[in-house]
Amino acid sequence: MIDALAGLARPLFDALDPETAHRLALRALAAMPPPRPRSDPPGMAVDAFGLRFSNPIGLAAGFDKDAVAADALGALGFGFVEVGTLTPRPQAGNPRPRLFRLRAERAVINRMGFNNAGHAAALARLKAHRGGGPLGVNVGANKDAPDRAADYVAGVRAFAEVADWLTINVSSPNTPGLRDLQSRAALDDLLARAIDARAAAPKSPPLLLKIAPDVGPAELDDIVEVARARRIDGLIVSNTTVSRPPGLSGAAAFESGGLSGAPLFDLSTRVLREAHRRVGGQFPLIGCGGIGDADALVAKLEAGAALVQVYTAFAYGGPGFITRLRRDLPGALARRGHASVAAATASAA
Ligand SMILES: Cc1cc2nc3c(=O)[nH]c(=O)nc-3n(C[C@H](O)[C@H](O)[C@H](O)COP(=O)(O)O)c2cc1C
Repeated sequence: MIDALAGLARPLFDALDPETAHRLALRALAAMPPPRPRSDPPGMAVDAFGLRFSNPIGLAAGFDKDAVAADALGALGFGFVEVGTLTPRPQAGNPRPRLFRLRAERAVINRMGFNNAGHAAALARLKAHRGGGPLGVNVGANKDAPDRAADYVAGVRAFAEVADWLTINVSSPNTPGLRDLQSRAALDDLLARAIDARAAAPKSPPLLLKIAPDVGPAELDDIVEVARARRIDGLIVSNTTVSRPPGLSGAAAFESGGLSGAPLFDLSTRVLREAHRRVGGQFPLIGCGGIGDADALVAKLEAGAALVQVYTAFAYGGPGFITRLRRDLPGALARRGHASVAAATASAA
Protein backbone atom coordinates (compact mmCIF):
# COMPACT_ATOMS: atom_id res chain seq x y z
CA MET A 1 0.00 0.00 0.00
CA ILE A 2 2.66 2.50 1.05
CA ASP A 3 4.79 1.38 -1.93
CA ALA A 4 1.85 1.93 -4.29
CA LEU A 5 1.15 5.39 -2.87
CA ALA A 6 4.82 6.28 -3.12
CA GLY A 7 4.83 5.11 -6.76
CA LEU A 8 1.85 7.36 -7.56
CA ALA A 9 3.49 10.33 -5.86
CA ARG A 10 6.87 9.84 -7.54
CA PRO A 11 6.32 11.97 -10.69
CA LEU A 12 5.20 14.81 -8.43
CA PHE A 13 8.21 14.43 -6.15
CA ASP A 14 10.58 14.27 -9.11
CA ALA A 15 9.26 17.59 -10.38
CA LEU A 16 9.89 19.34 -7.06
CA ASP A 17 13.18 20.73 -5.86
CA PRO A 18 14.79 17.96 -3.79
CA GLU A 19 14.55 19.72 -0.44
CA THR A 20 10.83 20.41 -0.79
CA ALA A 21 10.21 16.82 -1.90
CA HIS A 22 12.10 15.59 1.15
CA ARG A 23 10.14 17.78 3.57
CA LEU A 24 6.80 16.69 2.10
CA ALA A 25 7.73 13.01 2.24
CA LEU A 26 8.68 13.28 5.91
CA ARG A 27 5.49 15.14 6.73
CA ALA A 28 3.36 12.53 4.94
CA LEU A 29 5.09 9.69 6.78
CA ALA A 30 4.69 11.36 10.16
CA ALA A 31 0.97 11.90 9.46
CA MET A 32 0.35 8.42 8.09
CA PRO A 33 2.66 5.86 9.68
CA PRO A 34 2.80 2.70 7.56
CA PRO A 35 1.97 -0.68 9.07
CA ARG A 36 5.03 -2.58 10.29
CA PRO A 37 6.12 -5.09 7.61
CA ARG A 38 6.29 -8.82 8.24
CA SER A 39 9.19 -9.90 10.42
CA ASP A 40 12.60 -10.60 8.92
CA PRO A 41 13.68 -14.12 8.01
CA PRO A 42 16.10 -15.97 10.31
CA GLY A 43 19.74 -15.14 9.78
CA MET A 44 19.02 -11.46 9.21
CA ALA A 45 19.18 -10.46 12.89
CA VAL A 46 22.34 -8.92 14.31
CA ASP A 47 23.45 -8.50 17.92
CA ALA A 48 25.74 -5.51 18.34
CA PHE A 49 26.39 -2.80 20.94
CA GLY A 50 24.32 -4.84 23.38
CA LEU A 51 21.26 -4.37 21.16
CA ARG A 52 19.30 -6.72 18.89
CA PHE A 53 18.66 -5.53 15.32
CA SER A 54 16.00 -7.52 13.40
CA ASN A 55 17.87 -6.81 10.17
CA PRO A 56 21.17 -5.04 9.44
CA ILE A 57 19.73 -2.16 7.38
CA GLY A 58 19.65 1.22 9.08
CA LEU A 59 18.54 4.66 7.94
CA ALA A 60 21.58 6.95 8.05
CA ALA A 61 21.64 10.30 9.83
CA GLY A 62 20.48 13.42 8.04
CA PHE A 63 17.24 12.07 6.59
CA ASP A 64 15.20 12.75 9.73
CA LYS A 65 17.38 15.36 11.40
CA ASP A 66 14.72 16.55 13.86
CA ALA A 67 13.20 13.16 14.69
CA VAL A 68 9.79 14.06 13.27
CA ALA A 69 9.06 10.63 11.72
CA ALA A 70 11.48 8.17 13.33
CA ASP A 71 8.85 5.55 14.23
CA ALA A 72 7.19 5.74 10.82
CA LEU A 73 10.54 5.43 9.05
CA GLY A 74 11.40 2.40 11.17
CA ALA A 75 8.07 0.87 10.24
CA LEU A 76 9.04 0.91 6.55
CA GLY A 77 11.30 -2.03 7.37
CA PHE A 78 14.55 -0.52 8.61
CA GLY A 79 16.32 -2.52 11.31
CA PHE A 80 17.26 0.77 12.97
CA VAL A 81 17.03 4.53 12.49
CA GLU A 82 19.53 7.26 13.33
CA VAL A 83 18.15 10.79 13.76
CA GLY A 84 20.18 14.04 13.71
CA THR A 85 22.63 15.57 13.29
CA LEU A 86 21.37 17.73 16.14
CA THR A 87 23.14 20.80 17.46
CA PRO A 88 22.40 22.47 20.83
CA ARG A 89 20.84 25.57 19.31
CA PRO A 90 18.55 25.64 16.24
CA GLN A 91 20.48 26.42 13.10
CA ALA A 92 19.30 27.45 9.61
CA GLY A 93 22.17 25.83 7.72
CA ASN A 94 23.65 27.12 4.47
CA PRO A 95 21.74 29.23 1.95
CA ARG A 96 19.67 27.38 -0.67
CA PRO A 97 20.13 25.72 -3.08
CA ARG A 98 22.23 23.31 -1.03
CA LEU A 99 21.03 19.89 -2.19
CA PHE A 100 21.68 18.71 -5.75
CA ARG A 101 20.56 15.54 -7.51
CA LEU A 102 22.99 13.76 -9.83
CA ARG A 103 20.27 11.53 -11.15
CA ALA A 104 22.27 9.66 -13.80
CA GLU A 105 24.78 8.62 -11.15
CA ARG A 106 22.20 7.84 -8.44
CA ALA A 107 24.10 10.38 -6.34
CA VAL A 108 23.50 13.57 -4.39
CA ILE A 109 25.72 16.49 -3.42
CA ASN A 110 24.69 18.34 -0.29
CA ARG A 111 26.01 21.26 1.67
CA MET A 112 23.11 21.53 4.10
CA GLY A 113 25.32 22.66 7.01
CA PHE A 114 23.53 21.01 9.95
CA ASN A 115 20.15 22.68 9.46
CA ASN A 116 18.12 21.48 12.44
CA ALA A 117 15.72 22.69 15.11
CA GLY A 118 18.11 22.08 18.02
CA HIS A 119 18.26 19.73 20.99
CA ALA A 120 15.16 20.77 22.90
CA ALA A 121 12.61 20.18 20.13
CA ALA A 122 13.99 16.76 19.18
CA LEU A 123 14.32 15.71 22.81
CA ALA A 124 10.67 16.49 23.49
CA ARG A 125 9.65 14.35 20.50
CA LEU A 126 11.93 11.48 21.43
CA LYS A 127 10.58 11.45 24.98
CA ALA A 128 7.18 10.78 23.45
CA HIS A 129 8.71 8.11 21.14
CA ARG A 130 6.63 4.99 21.56
CA GLY A 131 9.20 2.34 20.81
CA GLY A 132 9.58 0.67 17.47
CA GLY A 133 13.08 -0.47 16.53
CA PRO A 134 16.44 0.67 17.86
CA LEU A 135 16.98 4.41 17.53
CA GLY A 136 20.24 6.35 17.61
CA VAL A 137 20.86 10.06 17.99
CA ASN A 138 23.65 11.72 16.02
CA VAL A 139 25.08 14.87 17.64
CA GLY A 140 27.18 17.74 16.30
CA ALA A 141 28.27 21.29 16.99
CA ASN A 142 26.77 24.67 16.11
CA LYS A 143 28.74 26.47 13.42
CA ASP A 144 29.47 29.44 15.70
CA ALA A 145 30.18 27.46 18.89
CA PRO A 146 33.19 28.89 20.75
CA ASP A 147 34.03 25.41 22.09
CA ARG A 148 32.81 22.77 19.68
CA ALA A 149 33.62 19.84 21.97
CA ALA A 150 31.28 21.39 24.55
CA ASP A 151 28.43 21.11 22.02
CA TYR A 152 29.04 17.36 21.67
CA VAL A 153 29.12 17.04 25.46
CA ALA A 154 25.77 18.85 25.60
CA GLY A 155 24.43 16.38 23.01
CA VAL A 156 25.54 13.39 25.05
CA ARG A 157 23.97 14.86 28.20
CA ALA A 158 20.71 15.73 26.47
CA PHE A 159 20.08 12.48 24.61
CA ALA A 160 21.71 9.75 26.77
CA GLU A 161 18.38 8.95 28.42
CA VAL A 162 16.39 8.50 25.17
CA ALA A 163 18.94 7.12 22.68
CA ASP A 164 19.81 3.46 22.12
CA TRP A 165 23.18 4.78 20.94
CA LEU A 166 24.80 8.17 20.40
CA THR A 167 26.89 9.06 17.37
CA ILE A 168 29.63 11.67 17.55
CA ASN A 169 29.65 13.15 14.05
CA VAL A 170 32.99 14.78 13.30
CA SER A 171 32.80 14.11 9.58
CA SER A 172 30.37 16.54 7.98
CA PRO A 173 32.21 18.51 5.29
CA ASN A 174 29.71 21.36 5.51
CA THR A 175 30.64 22.99 8.80
CA PRO A 176 34.02 24.66 8.21
CA GLY A 177 36.75 23.13 10.37
CA LEU A 178 34.54 20.35 11.79
CA ARG A 179 36.59 17.57 10.25
CA ASP A 180 39.66 18.92 12.13
CA LEU A 181 38.12 17.20 15.15
CA GLN A 182 39.24 13.93 13.55
CA SER A 183 42.89 14.83 14.18
CA ARG A 184 44.58 12.89 16.96
CA ALA A 185 44.77 15.39 19.85
CA ALA A 186 41.40 17.02 19.15
CA LEU A 187 39.65 13.67 18.82
CA ASP A 188 41.21 12.34 22.00
CA ASP A 189 40.06 15.39 23.95
CA LEU A 190 36.57 15.25 22.42
CA LEU A 191 36.05 11.55 23.13
CA ALA A 192 37.39 11.87 26.68
CA ARG A 193 34.90 14.64 27.41
CA ALA A 194 32.02 12.81 25.71
CA ILE A 195 32.73 9.66 27.71
CA ASP A 196 32.88 11.62 30.97
CA ALA A 197 29.52 13.19 30.13
CA ARG A 198 28.03 9.79 29.43
CA ALA A 199 29.35 8.42 32.74
CA ALA A 200 27.54 11.24 34.55
CA ALA A 201 24.24 10.67 32.68
CA PRO A 202 21.38 8.57 34.10
CA LYS A 203 21.78 6.07 31.23
CA SER A 204 24.96 5.05 29.37
CA PRO A 205 24.16 4.20 25.75
CA PRO A 206 26.89 3.01 23.38
CA LEU A 207 28.97 5.82 21.90
CA LEU A 208 29.79 5.61 18.19
CA LEU A 209 32.07 7.77 16.07
CA LYS A 210 31.22 8.65 12.45
CA ILE A 211 34.16 9.39 10.19
CA ALA A 212 34.80 10.79 6.72
CA PRO A 213 35.91 8.64 3.79
CA ASP A 214 38.52 11.24 2.91
CA VAL A 215 41.01 10.25 5.62
CA GLY A 216 44.45 8.99 4.58
CA PRO A 217 46.07 5.88 6.09
CA ALA A 218 48.01 7.79 8.77
CA GLU A 219 44.91 9.72 9.82
CA LEU A 220 42.92 6.48 9.97
CA ASP A 221 45.67 4.94 12.14
CA ASP A 222 45.28 7.84 14.57
CA ILE A 223 41.47 7.72 14.60
CA VAL A 224 41.31 3.99 15.28
CA GLU A 225 44.06 4.15 17.91
CA VAL A 226 42.27 6.92 19.79
CA ALA A 227 38.90 5.18 19.43
CA ARG A 228 40.35 1.94 20.80
CA ALA A 229 42.22 3.63 23.64
CA ARG A 230 39.09 5.56 24.66
CA ARG A 231 37.01 2.37 24.40
CA ILE A 232 34.49 3.74 21.94
CA ASP A 233 31.68 1.27 21.20
CA GLY A 234 31.63 1.47 17.40
CA LEU A 235 32.63 3.28 14.24
CA ILE A 236 30.45 4.41 11.31
CA VAL A 237 32.33 4.46 8.00
CA SER A 238 31.45 6.77 6.36
CA ASN A 239 29.96 10.19 5.83
CA THR A 240 29.90 11.90 2.40
CA THR A 241 33.08 12.63 0.42
CA VAL A 242 34.53 15.97 -0.67
CA SER A 243 36.32 14.14 -3.48
CA ARG A 244 34.81 13.82 -6.95
CA PRO A 245 35.46 10.39 -8.48
CA PRO A 246 36.07 10.53 -12.23
CA GLY A 247 33.11 10.05 -14.53
CA LEU A 248 30.56 12.33 -12.85
CA SER A 249 28.54 14.25 -15.42
CA GLY A 250 26.42 17.37 -15.31
CA ALA A 251 26.94 20.82 -13.85
CA ALA A 252 25.82 19.76 -10.36
CA ALA A 253 28.87 17.47 -10.05
CA PHE A 254 31.00 20.54 -9.40
CA GLU A 255 28.85 22.03 -6.67
CA SER A 256 30.73 22.16 -3.36
CA GLY A 257 29.60 19.85 -0.58
CA GLY A 258 29.56 16.15 0.24
CA LEU A 259 28.91 13.54 -2.42
CA SER A 260 26.83 10.48 -1.51
CA GLY A 261 25.25 7.56 -3.35
CA ALA A 262 26.67 5.08 -5.86
CA PRO A 263 29.91 6.97 -6.67
CA LEU A 264 30.81 6.89 -2.94
CA PHE A 265 30.61 3.11 -2.72
CA ASP A 266 34.19 2.14 -3.65
CA LEU A 267 35.91 4.79 -1.53
CA SER A 268 33.78 4.26 1.57
CA THR A 269 34.07 0.46 1.32
CA ARG A 270 37.86 0.68 1.00
CA VAL A 271 38.10 2.87 4.10
CA LEU A 272 35.70 0.52 5.93
CA ARG A 273 37.93 -2.46 5.13
CA GLU A 274 41.03 -0.56 6.26
CA ALA A 275 39.30 0.51 9.47
CA HIS A 276 38.15 -3.05 10.17
CA ARG A 277 41.73 -4.34 9.91
CA ARG A 278 42.91 -1.73 12.39
CA VAL A 279 40.05 -2.24 14.86
CA GLY A 280 40.98 -5.90 15.35
CA GLY A 281 37.50 -6.91 16.44
CA GLN A 282 37.48 -4.57 19.46
CA PHE A 283 34.13 -3.04 18.47
CA PRO A 284 31.59 -3.37 15.62
CA LEU A 285 31.58 -1.20 12.50
CA ILE A 286 28.64 0.20 10.56
CA GLY A 287 29.20 0.43 6.81
CA CYS A 288 27.63 3.38 5.03
CA GLY A 289 28.13 4.86 1.58
CA GLY A 290 26.68 4.05 -1.82
CA ILE A 291 24.63 0.96 -0.99
CA GLY A 292 22.12 0.59 -3.84
CA ASP A 293 21.24 -3.10 -3.76
CA ALA A 294 21.65 -6.29 -1.73
CA ASP A 295 24.95 -7.24 -3.43
CA ALA A 296 26.47 -3.92 -2.37
CA LEU A 297 25.13 -4.49 1.14
CA VAL A 298 26.81 -7.91 1.32
CA ALA A 299 30.07 -6.35 0.06
CA LYS A 300 29.97 -3.98 3.05
CA LEU A 301 29.48 -6.93 5.41
CA GLU A 302 32.40 -8.74 3.77
CA ALA A 303 34.52 -5.62 4.30
CA GLY A 304 33.84 -5.93 8.04
CA ALA A 305 30.55 -4.15 8.71
CA ALA A 306 28.25 -5.70 11.31
CA LEU A 307 25.43 -3.38 10.23
CA VAL A 308 24.89 -0.92 7.36
CA GLN A 309 23.16 2.38 6.82
CA VAL A 310 21.62 3.86 3.67
CA TYR A 311 20.50 7.32 2.67
CA THR A 312 20.78 8.33 -1.00
CA ALA A 313 19.38 5.16 -2.62
CA PHE A 314 16.42 5.38 -0.23
CA ALA A 315 15.91 9.04 -1.12
CA TYR A 316 15.71 8.03 -4.81
CA GLY A 317 13.84 4.74 -4.42
CA GLY A 318 11.44 5.51 -1.57
CA PRO A 319 9.81 2.80 0.54
CA GLY A 320 10.10 0.30 -2.34
CA PHE A 321 13.87 0.45 -2.02
CA ILE A 322 13.90 -0.82 1.54
CA THR A 323 11.28 -3.47 0.69
CA ARG A 324 13.50 -4.75 -2.16
CA LEU A 325 16.67 -4.64 -0.10
CA ARG A 326 15.11 -6.76 2.66
CA ARG A 327 13.61 -9.15 0.13
CA ASP A 328 16.87 -9.59 -1.83
CA LEU A 329 19.29 -9.86 1.08
CA PRO A 330 18.86 -13.58 1.91
CA GLY A 331 19.47 -14.52 -1.75
CA ALA A 332 22.50 -12.23 -2.05
CA LEU A 333 23.98 -13.76 1.11
CA ALA A 334 23.34 -17.30 -0.17
CA ARG A 335 25.01 -16.57 -3.53
CA ARG A 336 28.16 -15.60 -1.63
CA GLY A 337 27.95 -18.73 0.53
CA HIS A 338 26.89 -16.99 3.75
CA ALA A 339 24.23 -18.56 5.98
CA SER A 340 23.55 -15.31 7.83
CA VAL A 341 24.43 -11.63 8.07
CA ALA A 342 26.75 -12.39 10.98
CA ALA A 343 28.53 -15.06 8.92
CA ALA A 344 29.21 -12.53 6.14
CA THR A 345 30.69 -10.11 8.68
CA ALA A 346 32.78 -12.90 10.20
CA SER A 347 34.23 -13.69 6.74
CA ALA A 348 35.92 -10.28 6.55
CA ALA A 349 39.69 -10.55 6.27
C1 LIG B 1 21.09 15.49 2.20
C2 LIG B 1 21.99 14.76 3.15
C3 LIG B 1 22.10 15.18 4.47
C4 LIG B 1 22.93 14.49 5.36
N1 LIG B 1 23.00 14.91 6.66
C5 LIG B 1 23.76 14.23 7.54
C6 LIG B 1 23.81 14.62 8.91
O1 LIG B 1 23.14 15.53 9.35
N2 LIG B 1 24.63 13.91 9.75
C7 LIG B 1 25.37 12.84 9.31
O2 LIG B 1 26.08 12.22 10.12
N3 LIG B 1 25.33 12.44 8.03
C8 LIG B 1 24.56 13.11 7.14
N4 LIG B 1 24.51 12.71 5.82
C9 LIG B 1 25.37 11.58 5.39
C10 LIG B 1 24.62 10.25 5.40
O3 LIG B 1 24.22 9.91 6.71
C11 LIG B 1 25.54 9.14 4.84
O4 LIG B 1 26.65 9.00 5.69
C12 LIG B 1 26.01 9.41 3.42
O5 LIG B 1 24.98 10.00 2.66
C13 LIG B 1 26.50 8.14 2.72
O6 LIG B 1 25.47 7.20 2.56
P1 LIG B 1 24.64 7.02 1.16
O7 LIG B 1 25.65 6.91 0.06
O8 LIG B 1 23.83 5.77 1.35
O9 LIG B 1 23.82 8.23 1.02
C14 LIG B 1 23.69 13.37 4.92
C15 LIG B 1 23.57 12.95 3.58
C16 LIG B 1 22.73 13.61 2.70
C17 LIG B 1 22.63 13.13 1.27
